[in-house]
Amino acid sequence: MKPIIAANWKMNFTPEESLRLIDDITSQGLPSNVDIIFFPSFVSLPAVVDKLLDSAYSIGGQNIFHKENGAFTGEISASMLKALNIQYVIIGHSERRQYLHENDKQVNDKIQLALKAELVPIICIGETLKERENGQTDPVIKEQLNSAFENINLDNQKNIIVAYEPVWAIGTGLTAEKNKILDAHSLIKETLETIYNFNIPILYGGSVNADNAASLINIENVDGFLVGGASLKSESFCQIVKNITKNFERS
Ligand code: PGA
Repeated sequence: MKPIIAANWKMNFTPEESLRLIDDITSQGLPSNVDIIFFPSFVSLPAVVDKLLDSAYSIGGQNIFHKENGAFTGEISASMLKALNIQYVIIGHSERRQYLHENDKQVNDKIQLALKAELVPIICIGETLKERENGQTDPVIKEQLNSAFENINLDNQKNIIVAYEPVWAIGTGLTAEKNKILDAHSLIKETLETIYNFNIPILYGGSVNADNAASLINIENVDGFLVGGASLKSESFCQIVKNITKNFERS
C-alpha cells in the first residue's frame, strides 16, 4: 500500500489562493509512490476539482453535516459533496469536537452518511493532554473507535481510513513520541481487527513536518499522515512528500 498524505487546509485560502498553492505543488511533479489528497475549504472545492480533474491527486471535504438534508442553515450534506466529484471527507476532527461540540453519536451518523454517499471517510480520533496525563489514552481511543464504528457495516465497502491525532499535538509543534504512536496505532489496528477482517489504513496527524516525516513514516502501522500547518506552504508540503518517498521502507 502506498503511503497516504492528506493535506488539511482548514479555514485557509480563497479559491484563487487555493489554485495558486495547487499550481505550486503540482508543478514540482507527483511522486508515483504516494497518494496525495487535498482538503480545501468548501468554497474552494469546485475550483480545485476543476483544476485536478483526471489528475492523480485526490480531493476531499473537511466535514459533512450529520443529517441527510433539511432545514439546517449553513450546513453541507454528504450527497452535496459527492455531487462535486470528490472522493474523501474528514469526519470528527478534534477541532470540530472541541470548538463545535461534535459528539461521538454525530461522528457515527456522519460515517453512515458518508458511506451511503460513497465518500471515503477519514475518521479522526485521539486523546486530549488531560486524558493522556491521567493515563486514559487507551480507553479513550477504544471508546472513540467503538462508538464511531457502531453499526457500521463495511461488508461491501472497504474504503475507510482512521487518523490518530493526539489533540495536544495538533498545531502545537509537539509530536507524540515514536513509541506512543506505535502503541496507539497497534491498539487501533487490534480494535478494528476484532470488528472487521480487513486492513484499515491508519494515518498519524499532529505537527507532522519535513523534519519528522521521514522517521514517523517507518513506524509500524503508520500508513500515512494528516498534515495541517505544514500543508499550507508548497515548500514544506513538497518536502514532506519527498522525505516520505525517499525513506519509506515497507514493501
Ligand atoms: P497540524 O494539524 O499538522 O497543524 O498539527 C493536523 C490536523 O489538524 O489534521
